[in-house]
Amino acid sequence: MKMKKTLLLLCIILSGSISWMNAQNEKPIYLDENKPIEERVEDALSRMTLEEKVALCHAQSKFSSAGVPSLGIPENWATDGPHGIRPEVMWDEWEQAEWTNDSCIAFPALTCLAATWNPEMSLLYGKSIGEEARYRNKNILLGPGVNIYRTPLNGRNFEYMGEDPFLTSQIVVPYIQGVQSNGVAACVKHYALNNQEIDRHTVNVNVDDRTLYEIYLPAFKAAVQEGKAWAIMGAYNRYKEQWACHNDYLLNKILRDEWNFDGVVVSDWGGVNNTKEAIYHGLDMEFGSWTDGLSEGASNAYDNYYLSKPFLRLLQSGEVDVEEVNKKARNILRLAFRTTMDKNRPWGSFATQAHGDAGRKIAEEGIVLLQNNNNLLPIDLTKTKKILVVGENAIKAMTVGGGSSSLKAKYEVSPLDGLKARIGNQAEVIYARGYVGDASGEYNGVVSGQDLSESRSADELIAEAVNLAKGVDVVVFIGGLNKSDFQDSEGNDRKSYDLPYSQDKVITELSKANKNLVVVNISGNAVAMPWTKAVPAIVQSWYNGSESGNALASILVGDANPSGKLPFSFPVRLTDIGAHSFDTECYPGVDKEVTYKEGIFVGYRWLDKEKIKPLFPFGHGLSYTTFKYGKVSVDKSNMGATDKLTVSVSVTNTGNRAGSEIVQLYIKDMKSSLPRPEKELKGFDKVSLKAGETKTVSITIDKSALSFFDPVKHEWVVEEGDFEAIIGASASDIKGKASFKFQ
Ligand code: GLC
Repeated sequence: MKMKKTLLLLCIILSGSISWMNAQNEKPIYLDENKPIEERVEDALSRMTLEEKVALCHAQSKFSSAGVPSLGIPENWATDGPHGIRPEVMWDEWEQAEWTNDSCIAFPALTCLAATWNPEMSLLYGKSIGEEARYRNKNILLGPGVNIYRTPLNGRNFEYMGEDPFLTSQIVVPYIQGVQSNGVAACVKHYALNNQEIDRHTVNVNVDDRTLYEIYLPAFKAAVQEGKAWAIMGAYNRYKEQWACHNDYLLNKILRDEWNFDGVVVSDWGGVNNTKEAIYHGLDMEFGSWTDGLSEGASNAYDNYYLSKPFLRLLQSGEVDVEEVNKKARNILRLAFRTTMDKNRPWGSFATQAHGDAGRKIAEEGIVLLQNNNNLLPIDLTKTKKILVVGENAIKAMTVGGGSSSLKAKYEVSPLDGLKARIGNQAEVIYARGYVGDASGEYNGVVSGQDLSESRSADELIAEAVNLAKGVDVVVFIGGLNKSDFQDSEGNDRKSYDLPYSQDKVITELSKANKNLVVVNISGNAVAMPWTKAVPAIVQSWYNGSESGNALASILVGDANPSGKLPFSFPVRLTDIGAHSFDTECYPGVDKEVTYKEGIFVGYRWLDKEKIKPLFPFGHGLSYTTFKYGKVSVDKSNMGATDKLTVSVSVTNTGNRAGSEIVQLYIKDMKSSLPRPEKELKGFDKVSLKAGETKTVSITIDKSALSFFDPVKHEWVVEEGDFEAIIGASASDIKGKASFKFQ
């Protein structure tokens, strides 16, 4: 008996020690990769102190926020921007830290990406820039930007994707997917209604609900619901009198309740203005606050952040329920388990030729051939022996400057260098400055290294260019805007729709000196072009980053056939645009109040409504070949079962070289209870065709493409009746239509 008791006791001790040992070997749930993220989040949360939870909710340095050191959860490191990975900055400064291993590949601006109209290019872009962010150990990429192009004066339009909510929605999704495939969160910005830089920190935007939902929200909604973005950045401006970074309507009611966003809401840098609102109106992470309660920019003022000590005190006193910080901490922990805590995420790569090649491919697909009279382009190198390149944008580094998207690029091939490299000894390439724009080239301590100083007068520069133009076969003027203040730059809007630095005069004089004139406009915005009748060939190029010059040269000599199309309209004059058809209340606002009086009629929607002919329409872009469209047909056979219908049209390449055409589908509601645009882009497809080849392009849409937002019902509605499927090569170049009924 005694033996039995001893044995039983031994068994109990043994099993106890085994389970103790197992317990010691068992991973805590938050570290168990096999557990669902939500369980890991809750387990981690349960192990955290109040102070640790609050520390998650605000920056600890200019671009980082705390992790949970006691649990081994890493810090969060954010980085600009949408076009490349920003150089390291000092701990608490905007100035760069002068590291020597952070020179990146500069990708084309997002206006260029939008101009490709190619989701495949967007996926390539996102994957590539995500690899660069991952390699630099960043887990939040502060991009892409998707604010709608409401006015051609907005200084930051170059960072965005144009005037149409559908095009922007289609291009933003693959970019996000590409970035996040690297275990890096895309942080879509700036949510919402940040459509100008004038008074951007204070302006209150007045816009009706229908316009908000039909024009300014769709890209963000697609980013969240289709792109599954893991982060979103609040905008600086106010809406309904509340700051967008802590806005109950935008963040709680729309983003969380209507769209089911489960990611992190990040403030713009300095976008937080109030602790209570930041607590209750949907903000999770506060960055860049200029607060020590007294002045801007006090170093290490992080304890004074609105979501730092003030938040902690309210929690400790019980005035604010701990659930308020738990909600934020959950979102931030979820971000960690999607990024820094995911041991399976890839390792990325940085400043590689593959990324340079990707940038070049995107740029070649995004450059737009606006006009090509007498087929002056591509430059025929069998006949052309001497080429004059004129203009500061042929030589000026454009990756430095423009605000937070400024970069320290590993290299940047200028248009002039790209042309010289491509043309080599096939023709002589000479250069004349033509005009002086901005000789500087520095941003946050990053310098372009160029000495663009110039002692000659404007007249001397024009005289030099004109004289040289008389003695060459082809003149290529390369100008446009740049990344200086009041140009294409964050923090300011342009002061004029015209080209700066008297470029119009240079172009006009050159056109008199040589009829074989090509004008390349490099910009992120439309500009006035009063000289189009005197210039046979016009190319819209973009800030194309490291491979700018190689991509442009490839297009100009015809190695690549241009296929890009405009993501925004080029009006003849500024007052042709809705935002500039009313008064200063409509733009840029009066007493920090701006009212979007044009409503849903933005871009081509306004031009159609007012029957104004643009200089170059939305969706316009030529090719070195030609295309013929067949008859448009609509197949509604599946409409009843699937709510879908398919619009088809054949397209034939009638030229003598391969090329790609972007077929655009616009929908017109023939009769509606509310005013609707003449047509709205609801589908597109980029089709590649060999010379002589014909393909049938079929674009399938569902009934949502027929709907409009009813602000009274607060929902999208489709009204029965007649519709038209309009196929166009641009918003103005309509190739065919087909009527159909929806009942
Ligand atoms: C800037 C910009 C935002 C950027 C952030 C960090 O002010 O508005 O786009 O990501 O601050 O630089």
